[in-house]
Amino acid sequence: MSDATSSQHQVCIAGTGSYLPEKVLTNADLEKFVETSDEWIFTRTGIRERRVAAEGEFTSHMAAKAGQKALEQAGLSPDEVELIIVATITPDTLTPATACYVQQQLGAMGAVAFDISAACSGFLYAMKIAKRLISDGAFTNALIIGAEKLSSFINWKDRTTCVLFGDGAGAAVLRRAAPEEGSILATEMGTDGRLTHLLNIPGGGSACPITPENAGQHLASLAMMGKEVFKHAVNRMKESAELVIERSGLQPEDIALVVPHQANLRIIDAIADRLAVPTERVFVNLQKYGNTSAAAVAIALDEAHRAGAIKRGDHIVMVVFGAGLTWAAAAVRW
Ligand code: ACO
Repeated sequence: MSDATSSQHQVCIAGTGSYLPEKVLTNADLEKFVETSDEWIFTRTGIRERRVAAEGEFTSHMAAKAGQKALEQAGLSPDEVELIIVATITPDTLTPATACYVQQQLGAMGAVAFDISAACSGFLYAMKIAKRLISDGAFTNALIIGAEKLSSFINWKDRTTCVLFGDGAGAAVLRRAAPEEGSILATEMGTDGRLTHLLNIPGGGSACPITPENAGQHLASLAMMGKEVFKHAVNRMKESAELVIERSGLQPEDIALVVPHQANLRIIDAIADRLAVPTERVFVNLQKYGNTSAAAVAIALDEAHRAGAIKRGDHIVMVVFGAGLTWAAAAVRW
């Protein structure tokens, strides 16, 4: 699905924020309870360590902390926020939405709040939705958040998944922009529901409730066919990134930074290669956090921004891929 070319209002990213739980789980820690090695994990994925939320620390808590930082940077107080969208596949509860808890924790009582579920693509799905709602005039600002507590949905005995994922949250404030300010130039998103079987959490929903009989089968844990996912990820990320680059009238050399989904360094290198963007202009932080699904690109965006890797006027491209299968990209003039 693509953007219409004309919109009433330009929309900019006015602030970013992120939050990572304190507890670090290294590859060496994992070696102690599952048959794996730092060497295998690092050479296959690029991951060295990940963060794990504390007991009693939920997705909403991490989301609210990241959101608070983004609001501070944007100079927006919680009571001015009009819309909160939380992208997550690890909500605090199936209902109400995690965004409702976040609204309450931030004290953003004037905001409309809801969740979306698009796995690792969720943050850029939220960006497109919020951008459109602002450009159409329904809202003047929005707080979008990608937040995950994947540690609650991992089978810690399954070495094919438990080494890959981590917890965290990232956020951005979107608002109506003046013509001289930066803007979100193009967004793209796509879905292929024929591939739901490649990556899912099979239990805990209406199709397969957790019962006393199946409770020991880890059905409420992530299951993934990694090799297949890998292949689709590279193709779809390349295609969607190319689309937003083309629609923005950019050339590869115009792009100051690519901020991709942080799942696997080999996927990121393949994307950089196919987009003809040198690897030094591709932001990578997965060595520290693993794959935090919807939070990953949001955390990366915030870290890149706060580290000074994104400056006013820079063109950046974000590109993501996840369960569904889903994918999305956005081109932004900062
Ligand atoms: N430690 C040691 N050995 C392992 C581990 C481990 N942690 N995990 C698997 N192995 C073994 C396998 O059992 C297999 O052994 P075998 O050859 O004896 O059968 C061998 O290593 C190779 O396994 P593969 O699965 O073929 O390894 P591959 O090179 O494909 O790497 C990986 C696996 C890292 C998962 C990769 O396929 C990948 O990154 N895929 C993409 C995942 C992704 O991007 N997901 C994004 C979306 S996530 C979301 O939406 C929530």
